[in-house]
Amino acid sequence: MEQLYISKLSLVQFKNYEEASLEFSPRINCFVGDNGVGKTNLLDAIHYLSLTKSFFNNVDQQNIRHGQEVFVIQGEFVRGDHTEKIFCSVRAGKKKICKRNNKDYERFSDHIGLLPVVMISPADSSLILEGSEQRRRFIDTVISLYDRPYLQALLRYNRALMQRNKLLKQLEFKRETDAGELELWDNQLIIPGNEIHEKRKELVRKLVPVFQEYYDHISEGKEKVGLEYRSPLLERPFEDILLQNREKDRVLQYTTAGVHKDDLVMTLDGYPIKKTGSQGQQKTFLVALKFAKFGFIRDLTGVKPILLLDDIFDKFDARRVYQIIRMVARHEFGQIFITDTDAGHLKKILSEVGTEHRIFKINEEIRII
Ligand SMILES: Nc1ncnc2c1ncn2[C@@H]1O[C@H](COP(=O)(O)OP(=O)(O)O)[C@@H](O)[C@H]1O
Ligand SMILES: [Mg+2]
Repeated sequence: MEQLYISKLSLVQFKNYEEASLEFSPRINCFVGDNGVGKTNLLDAIHYLSLTKSFFNNVDQQNIRHGQEVFVIQGEFVRGDHTEKIFCSVRAGKKKICKRNNKDYERFSDHIGLLPVVMISPADSSLILEGSEQRRRFIDTVISLYDRPYLQALLRYNRALMQRNKLLKQLEFKRETDAGELELWDNQLIIPGNEIHEKRKELVRKLVPVFQEYYDHISEGKEKVGLEYRSPLLERPFEDILLQNREKDRVLQYTTAGVHKDDLVMTLDGYPIKKTGSQGQQKTFLVALKFAKFGFIRDLTGVKPILLLDDIFDKFDARRVYQIIRMVARHEFGQIFITDTDAGHLKKILSEVGTEHRIFKINEEIRII
């Protein structure tokens, strides 16, 4: 397995940083400091270099330090026996620039996957608490990491869906009864729809055991969790579904059934976690799900993604925190970044597990402690 880590990071006018420059341990790095000092912003800068975008804010411009014109993030990564210098910059009113070893990327998608990271953040709770769209997006991002045609299928499906919905509106307007054109769009949906369905089914099947293993590890086997793919296509062929819903679709003027409504059902001891799980259990669930994503990417790409653990100490009891740190300290994990407001218990756990680490104290300046 190839090694992967970021050795240096430098920031200019990125979020709350005027200028900063850090050198990391290839293993465990901790950012400690009070709320609002910029710990999460450092993780986000690493996320930028990996995925050419922020984990939190899709509007690049808003990541420029207030009152400034431009931000620059630069990083040096080691992957296998190469060094990769990554540059990412956004200037107000201009297009984003990303470079690998001083060479401009024309398509940012060419960069995705070279230096994988997995972020575990309190914002993940939207996966449980919000609608099914969040969960489909989770599945879709994981699949597109290793399957490029998948993204194409999604694009084709969404285009056809838009056209079909447009037509459903027109049919009502014109009071037409001819279903010929509708059938045309049905056919455009069915091919990519089936492809999306098969790949999602396959992913969830492979994800479940990995997920369960991580969950058991963190919770020390206390609860039984479930993860189930829900799709009408599991029961009937897509063409039948479309045909059966045709009248309903015409009345409601949109496509009511299809893979655009798929969901991932999360349960704890057989009950939906959204309703019954405690905050700590929900959090364990999400962390295990993200670890499963980590394991998945690692096994597929042959590199251990850089793990960004933001505020995982919130809402976890001391025992679970200890279990998580002990787990990531093992050799199947690579480079880890952890944020916390307090250095005390991190130091204690890290000295117990004995893995190489570096602790950065973030104030107005950044110090290694
Ligand atoms: N574009 C920006 N310009 C200046 N400051 C920013 C910008 N975006 C975010 N910040 C500041 O960054 C700080 C939050 O940093 P964050 O990394 O979330 O802190 P924490 O250490 O709690 O994780 C806030 O004080 C916020 O005002
Ligand atoms: Mg934070």
